[in-house]
Amino acid sequence: MTQGRDLFARFDARTAERLHNVGDARAVARRRLPPVVFDYIDGAADDEITMRRNVGAFADIEFRTKMASGETDPVLGTQVLGTPIDLPVILAPCGLVRLMHADGAAGAARAAAARGTLSVLSTVAGSSVEEVVADAGVTPWFQLYAAGGRPEAEQLCGRAAAAGVEVLVITVDTPTLGNRERDVRHGVAPPLRIDPRNAAPLGAQVLLRPRWALQLAATGIRLAGRGTGLRGHGSGLLQSVASPFSWDDIAHLRRRWAGRVVVKGVLSADDGRRAVDAGADAVVVSNHGGRQLDGAPATLRVLPEMVDAVGDDIEVYLDGGVRRGSHVVAALALGARAVLIGRPYLYALAAAGEPGVMRILDVLRAEMRRTMTLLGCPSVAELGPSWVRSDDQLGVVETAGA
Ligand code: GLV
Repeated sequence: MTQGRDLFARFDARTAERLHNVGDARAVARRRLPPVVFDYIDGAADDEITMRRNVGAFADIEFRTKMASGETDPVLGTQVLGTPIDLPVILAPCGLVRLMHADGAAGAARAAAARGTLSVLSTVAGSSVEEVVADAGVTPWFQLYAAGGRPEAEQLCGRAAAAGVEVLVITVDTPTLGNRERDVRHGVAPPLRIDPRNAAPLGAQVLLRPRWALQLAATGIRLAGRGTGLRGHGSGLLQSVASPFSWDDIAHLRRRWAGRVVVKGVLSADDGRRAVDAGADAVVVSNHGGRQLDGAPATLRVLPEMVDAVGDDIEVYLDGGVRRGSHVVAALALGARAVLIGRPYLYALAAAGEPGVMRILDVLRAEMRRTMTLLGCPSVAELGPSWVRSDDQLGVVETAGA
């Protein structure tokens, strides 16, 4: 068994070296995963318009360079809620991480720490917070879903706090699960339950991906995390995603949580202000990677409005559509303190496990450094709207000076 694991680890390390960008990681993930798992990552809600909008908004960015600045060693580090990070790219909370690769959420958390950044563990990652803290030796931020309302939320928060978690991320865009038709077509009914009538075709998909199946088997895949029930926290099944939190619930959880609170999934200045009023320390401008309300705006287009409304009071992060280091630079220029990535790291994890996640973070770092150097910008602290061209649709106001 150990030999098998070593062999897989060697394959992963070699595959990781061949990932030159997020697109490469996606291509390898597509070859390696059963289609039902790949489509769970790759897909979004309804017609996937919002997912494409997220990516497309970055394609519309035009940078404004400051040539001959002599800057060749840009500073990428920043602080999020008082924690210094070397790279302003955080691993977003994602469901079913265990199914991507045997390294799972603990591997992702280790990779993030090795690269000087943070990860957020989803309630439905498939590994409990206790497991991840023990296996990874680092404490992630914890993202909360609680279909069972306040009692379940309080219980999950209690466990996260006992495990040493300091930052609670409350997702507010999931009062019900989005319509993920790729999952449905694979015979997986929301909330990701396998219809027994589709067991045979799904079994065939798994047989066609023997390496994925063997690697999970070699490391002992379990659908439910240790010490967890079938529902909810640590379960590999997305049964407890739908969480119709109200602002009262968030204020209530804020009062009970001793650490910092991040509200994830706000898309308007009004909701940003509500998050401030409820006591949030930060917001994530997010449409859940286009996986919830199709037709929601691209997050990059909402970002300037959010920064304008709440940026003086709390930190603002962004997720959705980030595929390149230049995208991170663009989001920071428009006022985000950091970005979160979901699909890019899941593709890399599926492609090459923990080394794959380290590699994709290295790629994003190298791309960021090159972009900043070509821009002539010495530090992420210097980034602001003057580094991107005015574009009415983006709501960016061009300013003449630095
Ligand atoms: C879970 O949060 C998902 O988007 O599938």
